[in-house]
Amino acid sequence: MACILIPEENRVIKDNAEIGAYLKPFGIWHERWALDERVSPSAPADEILAAYQPEIDRLSEAGGYITADVMQVTPETPNLDAMMEKFKSEHTHSEDEVRFILRGTGLFHIHPPSGPVFAIQVEAGDLINVPKGVKHWFNLCADKSIRAIRLFQNPAGWTPKYVKEPVSVYYKPLCFGPAFVPGQGAKPASPLGGGVEGRFKV
Ligand SMILES: [Fe+2]
Repeated sequence: MACILIPEENRVIKDNAEIGAYLKPFGIWHERWALDERVSPSAPADEILAAYQPEIDRLSEAGGYITADVMQVTPETPNLDAMMEKFKSEHTHSEDEVRFILRGTGLFHIHPPSGPVFAIQVEAGDLINVPKGVKHWFNLCADKSIRAIRLFQNPAGWTPKYVKEPVSVYYKPLCFGPAFVPGQGAKPASPLGGGVEGRFKV
């Protein structure tokens, strides 16, 4: 189940309806899709895509997505840290970034034009989009593992365009979970003046 973390407000949103309402002004949508009863999250990619074809068709019609694939990384993935390096600095894309999480957990930070930076933690069963042009970055959580369906309007468009002076350097990728300790992972002094120190109300 997804949750939203708002460091500047020491706030966590875990209710699905509240998550949707919070994301809506930013053009971000979040859905929950059924998992095991449809197909094993570990099934081959073609079986995964076939199982979710109705949802993929619906989104493709609405968003103009023309291709879908399944990506996965695990701690054993060669050069994982180098691979993730390019996603963890603030960037935009000229296409939407659409992900349905089959397995694992990850953290999308969103830097909106106004209002505080917030993070959306996604896990198995969460569908999320980051609209084109929205400043964001992505980190894996501690399990360093994720498997996801990706939808593309144009795969060539899904290239990071990095933001000058990224604020991502001021945020620790703290994922919410049993090991979450409020106040841990303090970031360095921030020009944002928000004193973001990874503390969240729960
Ligand atoms: Fe991205």
